[in-house]
Amino acid sequence: MTVCSLADYYADRAAEYDEVYRKPERQGDLVRLKELLPPLVAGKRVLEIAAGTGYWTQVLATAAAQIMATDINAETIAIAAQRDYGPASVALRTADAYDLSAVPGEFDLVFCGFWWSHILRADIPRFLGGVRSRTERGTTLVLVDNRYVAGSNHPISRTGPDGDTYQRRSLADGREYEVLKNFPSREQLAADLEPAATDLAWTELTYYWLASCVLR
Ligand SMILES: C[S@@+](CC[C@H](N)C(=O)[O-])C[C@H]1O[C@@H](n2cnc3c(N)ncnc32)[C@H](O)[C@@H]1O
Repeated sequence: MTVCSLADYYADRAAEYDEVYRKPERQGDLVRLKELLPPLVAGKRVLEIAAGTGYWTQVLATAAAQIMATDINAETIAIAAQRDYGPASVALRTADAYDLSAVPGEFDLVFCGFWWSHILRADIPRFLGGVRSRTERGTTLVLVDNRYVAGSNHPISRTGPDGDTYQRRSLADGREYEVLKNFPSREQLAADLEPAATDLAWTELTYYWLASCVLR
């Protein structure tokens, strides 16, 4: 098994990442997410964290005023750069989710697609602190992530001492990785966000959840 960071795993996976959006059983939920997200970001200046290949950037771009889409990996940003965002103002930039200090711009909404699940539970305060250092009080935080559905998700292979869960994943060329992937319930998410945010709204689909809250 390849032992590497989460960032390196996604760099290695970049070229085949979008396969995850072709899972047949998830298509109905994806259509629903694409209906739910644009109204949430309409007219907003969006900071997107861990934007990956720009799959959701393209969805947000149909309604947002502008988007600064960031990801730690140049490999995923390069794929995102090939997408058509229409007339929307979309900038792409490499940035670590835990150090957003060099990202230019002012934002009234922060979006994270399938990133929350990759934050170690112990790192949640650090991540939220970094987001709050770049945003004004009252900024909206929107999160989309996976629900655990046996048969559709990789099985949980290990649980760490803080309750973090891990999966074994492989790439098309056979390389294997252990990847941090948490599946919080609504109650868990509410508890994790409570010190930093209010007004949690939660929408639960079969394969995904969508949450929004207001940063304190
Ligand atoms: C599950 S993918 C989500 C990509 C995209 N948001 C989506 O939903 O399709 C996780 C992303 O996090 C990025 N990533 C990993 N570590 C990161 C870090 N420390 N800071 C920013 N991005 C990171 C990876 O490069 C990858 O693109």
